[in-house]
Amino acid sequence: MKKKLVVFTGAGISAESGLKTFRGDDGLWEGYRVEDVATPEAWKKDPALVLDFYNIRRKQCIAAQPNLAHHALVALEKHYDVQIITQNVDDLHERAGSREVLHLHGEILKAQSSLSPRFVYQLENAAINIGDVCELGTQLRPHIVWFGEAVPNLERAEAMTETADVFVVIGTSLKVYPAANLLQFTKSDCLVYLIDPNAASIQVSGKVHKIAKSATEGMQELVDLLTK
Ligand code: OAD
Repeated sequence: MKKKLVVFTGAGISAESGLKTFRGDDGLWEGYRVEDVATPEAWKKDPALVLDFYNIRRKQCIAAQPNLAHHALVALEKHYDVQIITQNVDDLHERAGSREVLHLHGEILKAQSSLSPRFVYQLENAAINIGDVCELGTQLRPHIVWFGEAVPNLERAEAMTETADVFVVIGTSLKVYPAANLLQFTKSDCLVYLIDPNAASIQVSGKVHKIAKSATEGMQELVDLLTK
């Protein structure tokens, strides 16, 4: 039986596909205030601004292509039972061909009812506009988990993490909770790797093998380590 490899990704894995990360120089949150575009309060106050913010992100996501790091994770499926938990709302893991992808913070290519998160729709047009409604007749909103909202897939992610033989963290500052707590759920004998150019400044407890490289370069090194 193949060993279980669970991968936890953040915005950094899509950086080399041309999608901006959130924090740090030139990050998305340098240009926007979280409170203005990524909270239920922002949605109440100015839904058009919120829709615009995610309409731009969606266009950029559609134009982007998976990079070598996304593809390397697919190649590892030959050797491991790979499951991906991503904080990213893009679909680059799926487009690369990864078979199992769990999104913790939603998916940009989907819309949901602003009345009930149970009504979710694949978007046919790139944009959600004011006046686009769900089957309940209420305004559609992006299928994104905003700050202050519950993370519906968290328990599934924790259960996946508990069964990992190898756990790999790629391109996340581990600053957003509860997602950043996932590492605590690894087994005591789980091998843990972290790939990030800023690996040295990311605080993690326990034994973690840090690879201080970009996602594409770091994945080349990891594939060698895990398949030799
Ligand atoms: P951050 O922007 O907080 O962190 C991105 C990480 O990627 C940093 O640690 C960078 O050093 C690293 N990085 C930059 N370039 C890289 C590259 N080429 N290869 C690998 N790593 C690179 O993004 P996240 O940790 O994903 O949530 O942010 C977590 C959540 O905060 C997001 O899901 C989003 C955001 O607010 C919501 O919107 C709910």
